[in-house]
Amino acid sequence: MIIAMDGPAASGKGTLAKKLAQHYELEHLDTGALYRGVARDMIAAGKPLDDEQAAAAIAREIDPGSLEDPQLRTAKIGEAASRVAKLKPVRAALVEYQRKFAERPGGAIIEGRDIGTVVCPNADVKLFIEASTEVRATRRHKELIEAGQEISYAEIHAQITARDTLDRTREISPLLPAKDALLLDTSDLGIEAAFEAAINLIDMN
Ligand code: CDP
Repeated sequence: MIIAMDGPAASGKGTLAKKLAQHYELEHLDTGALYRGVARDMIAAGKPLDDEQAAAAIAREIDPGSLEDPQLRTAKIGEAASRVAKLKPVRAALVEYQRKFAERPGGAIIEGRDIGTVVCPNADVKLFIEASTEVRATRRHKELIEAGQEISYAEIHAQITARDTLDRTREISPLLPAKDALLLDTSDLGIEAAFEAAINLIDMN
C-alpha cells in the first residue's frame, strides 16, 4: 500500500505519518526533509538560494542519511527550503528519489506537498491534512521553543503565512489537494484524535 500525505506547514503531517507508518507497517519518507537538506547544504556552501545549477547538483548528491539532523528543523531552514523547492531541476532530482522510495515492495507512506498530485498520483490512499493558520503557528511555536530555539509566535505566524503563499502559488507542483484526496482538518484534533480519524478514512477507502 502507498499512502500519499500532503498539507501545509505544521499541519501535523509529520507526527501523523510516523504513527500511521507504525500502524500499517510501512516505510516512511518525510520529503520536506529532502528540501530542507538541500537548503542546509546550499547555505553551508555559501550559494545564493536561487542558484539553480548549484542547487540541482546538491539535490542530486543529497545524502538521505544526513536528514535526521535537528538543525534541519529551524524556521530559517524551513524558509530556505521553500525557496529551493521552487527550482525545477531541484524538484526533478528529488522527485526521482521519492518515486524510487515509493516503489519498495512493502509499500510506503510519503508526506509532502505534491505527493498525491505529482510524486505518487496512483497512490492507494491520498490524505490532505489541513489546520487553521493560528493552530499551525501555535503548534510550530511550541515545537521550536521546546527544541530550544528563540522565536516569537508572531514571527512564526508570519513565516508560516509567507511559506504557505510561496508553496501554494509556485508554478511547479504547487501545494494543492489531489482531486481524489481525502481531507482531514486537524484544527480541533489532538494527536490521538487525528490518528483515529486518519485510520477511519484510510480503512473506509
Ligand atoms: O515541516 P513543515 O510542514 O514546516 O515543512 P516541510 O514539510 O519540512 O517542508 C519544507 C518546505 O519544503 C516546504 O515549505 C515546501 O516549500 C518544500 N516541500 C516541497 O516543495 N515539496 C515537498 N514534497 C515537501 C516539501
